[in-house]
Amino acid sequence: MSEQTLFKVTVDNITIEVPAGTTILQAARQIGGAVAPPAMCYYSKLEGTGGKCRTCLVEVSKGSEKDPRPMPKLVASCRTTVMDGMEVKNITSEKVIDARAGVVEFLLLNHPLDCPICDQAGECHLQDLSFEHGKAGTRYEFQRRTFKKHDLGKHIQLHMTRCILCYRCVFIADQLTNKREHGILDRGDHAEIATHIEKSLGNEFIGNVIDVCPVGALTDKTFRFKNRVWFLKPMDAHRNCPSCSGRVTLWNRGDEVFRVTARKDEWGEIEDTPDGKPGWICNTCRFEKKHTNDWIIEGPRAISRQSVIAQGHYAGNIGTTLPTETFKAVNDGRAPHLLMDIHNESEVNLPSVRLSEIDGPSHGNTFNNNSKKA
Ligand code: SF4
Ligand code: FES
Repeated sequence: MSEQTLFKVTVDNITIEVPAGTTILQAARQIGGAVAPPAMCYYSKLEGTGGKCRTCLVEVSKGSEKDPRPMPKLVASCRTTVMDGMEVKNITSEKVIDARAGVVEFLLLNHPLDCPICDQAGECHLQDLSFEHGKAGTRYEFQRRTFKKHDLGKHIQLHMTRCILCYRCVFIADQLTNKREHGILDRGDHAEIATHIEKSLGNEFIGNVIDVCPVGALTDKTFRFKNRVWFLKPMDAHRNCPSCSGRVTLWNRGDEVFRVTARKDEWGEIEDTPDGKPGWICNTCRFEKKHTNDWIIEGPRAISRQSVIAQGHYAGNIGTTLPTETFKAVNDGRAPHLLMDIHNESEVNLPSVRLSEIDGPSHGNTFNNNSKKA
C-alpha cells in the first residue's frame, strides 16, 4: 500500500500534519476549538457543499514551503486545500474578523430577526455567528424580502425569510433521497427555496433537511411553538429501526418527548454511527415515535457548557422524572416557607395537556376545552 503524503500546515500558530487534499477547514477542525472557522454552508457529510456563504474566510499568510507568497485575497477555507508549509490565520487575523463582520451583515440584510418566536433559537448557527461577529445596527435601508408561503408537506415548515441559501437541504434531497422535488429557484435577490408547483416532499428521509438547515428556515411541524430548546432535556436513545440507524436524541421535558432529532457532533453536523456511516434518521423515528417507551434510553446527551441548552440540562433519573428541585440550591440552602402547586391555582399548563401531542401550537382553547372535560 502506498504511503499517504502528509502536509504540514499551521493555523493560528498551531502546526499539524494532514493528508494531502485536506481542506484548510478540515485541518483547522482537527486542531479544534476557536481555531476552526465557522461554516454555514459546508457540511462534511454531503458532497459538493461549501463555497456559498463565505463565513469560513481565512487569510493565507504563506502559500507553501515552495512558494511562500501570501494569497492576495481571503479564501474560503472549506474549498481551499492545504499545501505543504502553508500558514493560515483565522482568529489571529484582523482582516478575517473584519470580513466576517461584513459577511454577517450581508447574511442578515434580509433576515427577519425573529429569534424570539423562531424554533431554532438557542441552536441557530446564524444566531451564534451574529453574537460573535455581528454589529448591533444595520446600514440597510430597503424593505426586507417577503415570500409567498410554500407548503413543504405535513411535517416540514419552510420560512423562506430566514433562509440563507446555503443549499444544504438541496444536497440532502439530491444525495439522500431518490426523488428531489425542491431546489433554489431564480437568482440574486429573487432566489428562493421552492417546491415546483407546491409538491410536497414525501421521501422517508427528507426530515433530515431540518437537521442540516443552519437557521430556522426548515422546522419540524410536530415541534413548532411547543417549547424552547433550552427548557428541554436532550437524551441519547435508540430503537431497532428497519429503515435507519435508529440512533437519535430525544428532547424531553419530564417524560414527554417534544422532539426527536439525529445526534449532532461539536460542529453541528450529524454524528457518525459506530460503523462509520452518517447517522441520518428516517421520518418515522423523527416524527412518529414521540413516546419514551418507543425508545431505549441511553442517558443524558453531553451538551457544551457554553450552549444555552446546557441550562436546562438538569440532573435526575433518566427520562421519566420531573426536574430536580432547585429552590434550596438557589436560596442559600434555605427551604421555602410556602410552596404552592401552580396547577392548584391556575388552569394554565394543566399536567393533563401533553403539549407535544396536540396538533399545532397551544393557545387558550387548548386549556379551556381540556379543563371543561376534566
Ligand atoms: S432552507 Fe435552510 S438548509 Fe435550505 S438553503 Fe435555506 S438555509 Fe440552507
Ligand atoms: S462554509 Fe465555506 S463558504 Fe460557506
